[in-house]
Amino acid sequence: MYPTDICHKIPPDHLKLWWKEGVGEHGNHIEAGHELRSTVQFEKINLLGAMPFFEKFDVIFCRNVLFYFKEEDQIKVQEKLLKQLKNGGYLVLGNSDKLLITDGLEDVGITVYKKK
Ligand SMILES: C[S@@+](CC[C@H](N)C(=O)[O-])C[C@H]1O[C@@H](n2cnc3c(N)ncnc32)[C@H](O)[C@@H]1O
Repeated sequence: MYPTDICHKIPPDHLKLWWKEGVGEHGNHIEAGHELRSTVQFEKINLLGAMPFFEKFDVIFCRNVLFYFKEEDQIKVQEKLLKQLKNGGYLVLGNSDKLLITDGLEDVGITVYKKK
């Protein structure tokens, strides 16, 4: 659920296609519609273990997790995430995280990195 205040940030055609208005106590909110929800798959993974994905991703959000790990583990996880990205894909870290790998990613925004 997101407050309707954010609607102006969503292109009108996307809003119409993918989102629906909340009802009852959620009247001032929008929520992802069924079709958008059906595209989402939830998996519980351990970043310190093997990556259980065969596919590569356009974007990976890994926000405010890495800073829990010791530096050598942060590097291993970042290398694994880089492998899971498509060329030209984006890795988004959290404000508390730091990119520790130097090859393969370029800084394109605040905590946003693009695979070369
Ligand atoms: C501070 S929360 C950040 C949650 C969310 N990414 C955000 O930005 O709001 C840190 C999350 O890291 C998860 N976490 C800690 N160790 C992990 C690991 N080894 N593999 C995957 N997730 C882990 C915790 O379960 C927790 O949900």
